[in-house]
Amino acid sequence: MKRLMCMIAAGLMATAGIAQAQPIGNVEAGREKSQACIACHGETGASDNTAFPMLAGQHADYILYALQAYKSGDRQNAIMNGQAAGLSEKDMRDLAAFYAAQDPALQTLERRAANSER
Ligand code: HEC
Repeated sequence: MKRLMCMIAAGLMATAGIAQAQPIGNVEAGREKSQACIACHGETGASDNTAFPMLAGQHADYILYALQAYKSGDRQNAIMNGQAAGLSEKDMRDLAAFYAAQDPALQTLERRAANSER
């Protein structure tokens, strides 16, 4: 019985490992698809304009979830509902992978102070 439990535990750990290693989408395909988003979100998803949320370095599953919600209408925003309408599940996954892979540009107050001293 103990041995069986060990085998099950090992199996679960292996499965979890595989799930973690599996990317949510294709970064390079996402880069190409992000052309439509640059005007607002910037080249890497780090727009200087605070009207546009930071996508660079955001968690991929959060980005995917946000896009799915815009597409389904669960999340309402006139601009993004329109942007997401034409995206397939694969498009959304590739875009999520691309933005998640970019350098995070979110600032802490400390980092902002340090940057302004330069
Ligand atoms: C015309 C400007 C514009 C374009 C083009 C645009 N967005 Fe957005 N995006 C916005 C605005 C404004 C918001 C904030 C909406 C809100 O408050 O829900 C937003 C929000 C988002 C969010 C949610 C971020 C968060 O922190 O919750 C994601 C993800 C996103 N956009 C991805 C994209 C992708 C991918 C594309 C290209 C297919 C794109 N956007 C194109 C203006 C734009």
